[in-house]
Amino acid sequence: MYKTFFSLVFKRMDAERAHHLAFRWIRLAVRVPVLRTFVAAVFAPRYKELRTEALGLRMHGPFGLAAGFDKNAVAIDGMAMLGFDHVEIGTVTGEPQPGNPKKRLFRLVEDRALINRMGFNNDGSLAVAARLASRRPVFKTVVGVNIGKTKVVPEAEAVADYVKSAERLAPYADYLVVNVSSPNTPGLRDLQAVGHLRPLLSAVREAADRAVPARRVPLLVKIAPDLADEDVDAVADLAVELGLDGIIATNTTIAREGLGLTSDPAVVQETGGLSGAPLKARSLEVLRRLYARVGDRITLVGVGGVETAEDAWQRILAGATLVQGYSAFIYQGPFYARDLHKGLAARLRQSPYATLADAVGADVRNPA
Ligand SMILES: Cc1cc2nc3c(=O)[nH]c(=O)nc-3n(C[C@H](O)[C@H](O)[C@H](O)COP(=O)(O)O)c2cc1C
Repeated sequence: MYKTFFSLVFKRMDAERAHHLAFRWIRLAVRVPVLRTFVAAVFAPRYKELRTEALGLRMHGPFGLAAGFDKNAVAIDGMAMLGFDHVEIGTVTGEPQPGNPKKRLFRLVEDRALINRMGFNNDGSLAVAARLASRRPVFKTVVGVNIGKTKVVPEAEAVADYVKSAERLAPYADYLVVNVSSPNTPGLRDLQAVGHLRPLLSAVREAADRAVPARRVPLLVKIAPDLADEDVDAVADLAVELGLDGIIATNTTIAREGLGLTSDPAVVQETGGLSGAPLKARSLEVLRRLYARVGDRITLVGVGGVETAEDAWQRILAGATLVQGYSAFIYQGPFYARDLHKGLAARLRQSPYATLADAVGADVRNPA
């Protein structure tokens, strides 16, 4: 049904307009108590066997919404109503900013992919912190807060910009993510080099501890799929050294070659980060490499091209404790999380593992 609706309505609309329209419906639905109870019952059934503990947090399951969909923390309950077990808001920057000029979001329907160069359009850390502070949750869900650099802030002042966001937002974050991997802020991905990353992560850790002395807010870093393998290893080693809580792999890719893209070449060559199905193989590869390096010392979050329960299961076997998705939600609609959970519970039951936790990293620990 959603596929027909997508072809008839959303596909004919500008991608960003369609996003805002869907977003408005979700936010409206969650305001009506009877409706939200009904929608949650249909779209967010809970499976006991999928209960997950990660980052010191209890969740209904391992599958959550990746950053970028709810940049300003306005639809956390709406996304929980649709079955996402955690919602990562942001990227939020120190200061508010409009992002890049439109048009900046493109669909590659044949490839089940998107290209975006949104450029961190968001209300800024002060406004988002105020919104989170006044939030009255309707559904219990884990809220991750993803932070990034304000575009106009020079690289030399990047740490201070992240620290500002961390201080303002950590009090409302179940976990905090340092995003150094979006391709749409000039110079941002250079911060993935260990020489830049060490002082940045240390400063954000201290800022979070200063802002929230009573609780250790878990800190994660989100990396790009375009890192060379040695750089993936270097980030993994640094994460262990600094006592980081997790790594999110991966963000979107700037690659286009060798991905078998069949969509209109004029769209394929748009500047920005590519997400969705064509990202699947590399994201999985990066995840597997990370798990081989860090094992169970750090929580890994698998994201990039997760479309089905089988994809999520493969991420878990490759070392992910948590799994996220974004692009497939655009193509599959409100049944995305529900179908994924149902399939994942079935996959676990058929497997030799008693719990999801037992399956984490099994493929890497015992290669076939
Ligand atoms: C339109 C769009 C905006 C995004 N914005 C952000 C962002 O602000 N911060 C971030 O860390 N990732 C952002 N992402 C990346 C996603 O969180 C995710 O890492 C990536 O899309 C791969 O997952 P997917 O293939 O399931 O979409 C964005 C992705 C899309 C499609």
